[in-house]
Amino acid sequence: MKAKVLGIGYYLPEKILSNQDLEKMVDTNDAWIVERTGIKERRIVEPGGKNSDISIEAARKALQDANIDPLQLDLIIVATVTPDMPFPSTACIVQALLGAKNASAFDLAAGCTGFIYALSVAEKMLISPEINSVLIIGCDIVSSVIDYTDRNTCILFGDGAGAMVLGKSEGDCGILSTTIGADGTGAGLLYMAAGGSALPATHETVEKRLHYLRMNGNEVFKFASKIVAQTTSELLDKAGLTYDDIDLFVPHQANSRIIQSAMRRMMLPPEKVAINLDHCGNISAGSIPVALAQYNEKCPLRSGANILMVGFGTGLTYGGAIIRWGRD
Ligand code: ACO
Repeated sequence: MKAKVLGIGYYLPEKILSNQDLEKMVDTNDAWIVERTGIKERRIVEPGGKNSDISIEAARKALQDANIDPLQLDLIIVATVTPDMPFPSTACIVQALLGAKNASAFDLAAGCTGFIYALSVAEKMLISPEINSVLIIGCDIVSSVIDYTDRNTCILFGDGAGAMVLGKSEGDCGILSTTIGADGTGAGLLYMAAGGSALPATHETVEKRLHYLRMNGNEVFKFASKIVAQTTSELLDKAGLTYDDIDLFVPHQANSRIIQSAMRRMMLPPEKVAINLDHCGNISAGSIPVALAQYNEKCPLRSGANILMVGFGTGLTYGGAIIRWGRD
């Protein structure tokens, strides 16, 4: 038995934040951002827009694609570091909005690797005879934790949601391999200091701007370049495949230089790589599922295609999966 993909969907907010808009907010310029990151614009929610609003948009599309009624869902996982609120989980809010009353629900926090973590957990849960269909959502409203006076971070991120419905397969298609991992010694490289039990919200934490994402970009970059190569090799070994067997590579959309170095190593032509970084920026947990769903919308994936997904993020966390596309 394998876990297979039954349907996918995504949602992006309408509002565009372009590099030209950012030029008016911080000391930056379009040429620097494009050269150093590959990003031209990103989508952000209107003020007050929340995670569950866009999570359910993506979820409804994935359920429709899967032809599954919400009542058939046994489990909902929302991968996010920007939930509606610390508790209850956004997954429970989504469960109620969908009317998926037979599903258990929880959030999973693994930053930009969140969707891959959710996929790996869903795969393992589907081994149980009690779980037959799982909805996973990768969604972040990163704009809610961005300091738009910090040019090191505000140029990088956007908002969005991607969703996938998974079921059981007895055939050739489905998840061929997954891997997830973490290096908690890197926790200080990408974090939001306040708002948790270590530093609850006070006037002082707000005044000191501690409710914003902070990142050591250079160190995260070095980690990412190393871990993408390592994770890819592990996934290929587990699945018994080589680079030549990969039909589509869906990398975490953090920086075009990281993606291009992975493409060179795997000798992958551009048509075999899903890239939406230029118009979405880094959507954190939404990054990989939105890139996959957008690619499939433009160039529908053929049954049997091998898809390699690799992510990394705060934690530090990392992980990946190889899926053989199709419902057989
Ligand atoms: N516009 C203009 N100049 C800038 C900007 C900007 N927006 N940001 C930084 N600079 C300047 C710096 O101040 C520095 O100037 P200096 O040389 O006078 O000191 C110069 O540009 C170079 O800065 P670096 O930080 O060395 O630039 P780098 O080429 O490393 O790019 C970047 C920075 C884009 C952040 C890169 O390090 C990166 O992409 N890192 C990976 C980040 C990442 O993947 N994060 C996602 C993790 S996943 C998750 O969980 C959210």
